[in-house]
Amino acid sequence: MKKNKTLTRDWFRRWSKEYDQTLGKISFHRDLLDLMVKNSNVKDGYNILDIGCGTGLLSLKFLQKANCFVTGVDSSGEMIAIFQDKIRKLNLGDKVSLHLMDAASLKFKKEAFDQVVSSVTLHHLKDKLSAIKTVFNILNKNGLFIIGEIDMDTTGKFTDIRRLKRILKVLEQEWIPALKDAGVEAFSKMFENGKKHILNQGEYCISLAQWSGICRRAGFKSVAIKKLGRYPAFGIVIAKKS
Ligand SMILES: C[S@@+](CC[C@H](N)C(=O)[O-])C[C@H]1O[C@@H](n2cnc3c(N)ncnc32)[C@H](O)[C@@H]1O
Repeated sequence: MKKNKTLTRDWFRRWSKEYDQTLGKISFHRDLLDLMVKNSNVKDGYNILDIGCGTGLLSLKFLQKANCFVTGVDSSGEMIAIFQDKIRKLNLGDKVSLHLMDAASLKFKKEAFDQVVSSVTLHHLKDKLSAIKTVFNILNKNGLFIIGEIDMDTTGKFTDIRRLKRILKVLEQEWIPALKDAGVEAFSKMFENGKKHILNQGEYCISLAQWSGICRRAGFKSVAIKKLGRYPAFGIVIAKKS
């Protein structure tokens, strides 16, 4: 477990400087973040927690949509440093607070947030239920949780050929837009990332239906899935506390 966490931190430390020019430039990622913001119905004054905020691509979209406050947490100091730099340049210091924190052990008060959002991050956690139970507790009673993820079930044995075929079918939808939208470097990074998905090297993706089941088990009353029109391998889970 610890070994995989170190692997993930190293991975994002090495990726951080190219992140916005690679994944940040791919259309499915932009569409995914836009769908999250659209479905959040975020309002002025809301307190938002962005789990795995990275370089701030999702948080900044929330801040553009409403006069809200964003708390960003991430386990990579290098990703956070890039977001911090953007905050300084955009003069958003009074709207954003960033914390180096593991999504598996979120330290916030009960009912501290109106909305909790997380894009392509929570699949890094092995114990998803425990983290989502914490999300449930730190949301206020009408709170909303939105997960943006790849719809890919990577559970099973590495030697299972059907598993490999199932994963490759989904990864194709990641690799082709990567090459088209952001070029060879982005493709190469996503290809490398794909191997980590296949071998569960710090990446434990599950399907959106599986995410939805975990949200229900954590206590969320209403849970819905919306997929991206152009890229059905990606989508969001919208979980309401009441
Ligand atoms: C693919 S990036 C997504 C960043 C941002 N949400 C976006 O959509 O651009 C995943 C982020 O999750 C962070 N991360 C991975 N495992 C984490 C963990 N256990 N706790 C907190 N952050 C984590 C990484 O450092 C990285 O910044």
